Amino acid sequence: MGLSIVILAAGQGTRMRSDLPKVLHELAGKPLLGHVVDCAEALTADDICVVYGHGAELVEATFADRELRWALQEQQNGTGHAVMQAMPDTADGNAVLVLFGDVPLLMPTTLTRLIDATGMDEMAVLSVDMDDPTGYGRVVREGGNVSRIVEQKDASPEEQAIAEINTGVMLCPAARLKGWLDRLGNDNAQGEYYLTDVIEMAVADGVTVHGIKAGTPEEVMGINDKKQLATAERALQSRLVDELMEQGVGFADPARVDIRGSLTCGKDVFIDVNNVFEGEVHLGDGVRVESNNVIRDSRIGAGTVIHSNCHFEGASTGADCELGPFARMRPGAVLADRVKLGNFVEIKNSNVADGSKVNHLSYVGDTDMGETVNVGAGTITCNYDGANKHRTVIGDGVFIGSGVMLVAPIEIGRGATLGAGSVVSRAAPADKLTVARARQVTVDGWKKPVKKSG
Ligand code: UD1
Ligand code: CA
Repeated sequence: MGLSIVILAAGQGTRMRSDLPKVLHELAGKPLLGHVVDCAEALTADDICVVYGHGAELVEATFADRELRWALQEQQNGTGHAVMQAMPDTADGNAVLVLFGDVPLLMPTTLTRLIDATGMDEMAVLSVDMDDPTGYGRVVREGGNVSRIVEQKDASPEEQAIAEINTGVMLCPAARLKGWLDRLGNDNAQGEYYLTDVIEMAVADGVTVHGIKAGTPEEVMGINDKKQLATAERALQSRLVDELMEQGVGFADPARVDIRGSLTCGKDVFIDVNNVFEGEVHLGDGVRVESNNVIRDSRIGAGTVIHSNCHFEGASTGADCELGPFARMRPGAVLADRVKLGNFVEIKNSNVADGSKVNHLSYVGDTDMGETVNVGAGTITCNYDGANKHRTVIGDGVFIGSGVMLVAPIEIGRGATLGAGSVVSRAAPADKLTVARARQVTVDGWKKPVKKSG
């Protein structure tokens, strides 16, 4: 039987107290809805339909690059009404799997379990036992299977005592679902069309409704406010770090790391506290990341050490580099092997070849630097003339004294030495000392200024 997935994402999310539609709030750097779409894509479905409404344009634009069907729900009249919007284009012969856009931690394996437990012309709901079920719909069972779901606001005291709650995930044959949705009423405490009311109709029509329990309450938690968003963030972070630890990555404190994207690691990687990884980051074998770094969309070569307080974005290194503390690599920083960057060094759109060192207080931009270059403290490539950027080319084995300004476009020949404090604006020849600065003078007869009286 084919599978159609319907994701409900039209609600406003009033309790987030935000202008942003609820499903666009981010968890581990990705919108809530993105997590649900990823989970849906992991199952082999014929189609994935998102029911959207609040913040429609922004929500659709955020997922413009995904293969999704969109069904607009102009007024949010309840979860049953929401599913109705998706039904006209859903094949009658398919099974419909309903997911919520604000339940982001759900795992594909749990959904596979639900799908596998459900036969032809049967239904299933995903439930979980909660210590405090307040606020959720309660699952009422008879003879083992589910007989109905009653919302908190409509539940009797006995029903309110039930700990098994409805997660919102439901699997149902499409043709049957269409028929039941057509007959749905809104005579309840909230005046809404409840999706959960189809269960009683199913039971009345002799359809078996399986109640399948999720592994943990955490996996099926719904996000309604910023507190729950923060709780889910920690839960997801610990899931991501657990996976990495299982692969052999060491963490000084698994609770003090943030992965907002995908982090892949080689063998024997160690990560100290308070590191933030964003986008696609790869750390090669034996990489050591000391505390307090932000690393975004970068690849770090094997054996490299990143000392504390660095900020890298769109950068890559070869093997055995030593970076920081306080180094910054901006997009296009490409280091080869055994490169050293020291404190307060910024590298942008530059290639730095094997064994070169930029140890203190430098800016290197739009540069091609050869091997074993030594860049003195405070050296700056003056790459921008106010209108255009120009390149600096530094040959192998160049020694640059402290405080040199390299006015680009410029080329420094291999093996050249540049005197400290030089402002170099013309090509410097290979293997020679070039000094470009005013000659030192001592002024005879000069008098110290004295403060005027009165
Ligand atoms: C729903 C369930 C409840 C369950 C709980 C789990 C119903 C009637 N109740 O309650 O049994 O325990 O989820 O979290 O189904 N949505 C729309 N359009 C609407 C209404 C909702 O798209 O008109 C979307 C929301 O954006 C959200 C999801 O459906 O993603 C759930 O809606 P919400 O209002 O949060 O349902 P609950 O009252 O929490
Ligand atoms: Ca909810």
